[in-house]
Amino acid sequence: MRTWVKAGTGVIGTVLLLAAGAGSALIWAGNRMLAKDHGALPEIVAGGPGDPVLGARLVKVYGCAGCHGEALAGEDFYGIPAPNLRRRARELALTDFARAVRRGLRPDGTSLTWAMPSEHFAALADNEIAAVHAHLRALPAMEDGASVTLKSRLFKAAATATGEVALNAVLVRATDVGPAVAPAPGMPGWGAYFTRAACAECHNHGLGGYPGDTPALADVIQRYDWPAFQRLTTTGKTPEDQDVRMMSGVARGRLVHMTDAERRALFDYLKSLSTP
Ligand code: HEC
Ligand code: HEC
Repeated sequence: MRTWVKAGTGVIGTVLLLAAGAGSALIWAGNRMLAKDHGALPEIVAGGPGDPVLGARLVKVYGCAGCHGEALAGEDFYGIPAPNLRRRARELALTDFARAVRRGLRPDGTSLTWAMPSEHFAALADNEIAAVHAHLRALPAMEDGASVTLKSRLFKAAATATGEVALNAVLVRATDVGPAVAPAPGMPGWGAYFTRAACAECHNHGLGGYPGDTPALADVIQRYDWPAFQRLTTTGKTPEDQDVRMMSGVARGRLVHMTDAERRALFDYLKSLSTP
């Protein structure tokens, strides 16, 4: 009996040891990927200081507040802490801030994970990045809403090693750059510019949707006329007067802050996608 218990403990012990070994190998591999220097090229931001009033609107429309917390002071994002942007905007010079948002790279060349959707912000215009930076810097300091813990570190390392979480350094192409000044609503290029930053995160590149999750915008816009679209994008209500998963929250928290000119240009752009 005693020998059996002893043998049993031995087996369990070995299994635990192997599991711990596999776990730490994974964490070691993940940490190596996260510590890799991808070479942070200088990030050029043209123009003077940004317009904080524009920035205040953009952090809402582009959803920064959705992940970094309503107060932009940081929040847990599915196990990965989204940092306190009030603090980080003060600590990071404009060019370093722009590199983090657009390239997904820290000043030391290490990569942020795709939890920060730099892939969709890669072509944000210099004037908009500068506006967001200026707005965040003007906000009074606040305590961090989320902090990096041992648990979040281990999770991030393991998820990076298994590929569950990808690195922005791999996803963002260095050649994918934004203009000095964002196009104005209704100008050529505006629709593609705006929807990439505001819609592609959920409706996919090219706005074709993710089957079973989000609709292709060229298809679903056919259900809308202008009054119905105004209603969706300000109240979150569909033509059937219903709330829909996620989108109603996006409308009420983000799209309600579009200007009238943007709302109209967005409607016209989406309609143009479904016209053969
Ligand atoms: C879908 C969620 C999400 C959205 C939307 C988002 N972020 Fe992030 N952001 C994160 C997460 C999570 C991190 C940390 C990623 C990591 O540690 O790998 C992060 C990191 C950052 C960093 C790096 C900070 C540092 O400490 O180095 C900056 C700067 C940043 N975000 C700015 C922004 C701005 C500006 C916007 C809006 C234009 C925005 N983010 C939108 C989730 C998001
Ligand atoms: C954070 C994710 C997210 C973002 C960002 C987002 N959407 Fe959506 N959207 C969804 C989801 C999820 C649905 C599907 C809702 C359902 O029917 O379950 C949806 C559905 C829609 C619908 C169809 C609503 C209906 O009538 O059923 C329209 C139109 C739409 N989105 C437009 C947009 C536009 C335009 C943008 C950018 C300005 C955008 N969305 C940004 C998640 C998002």
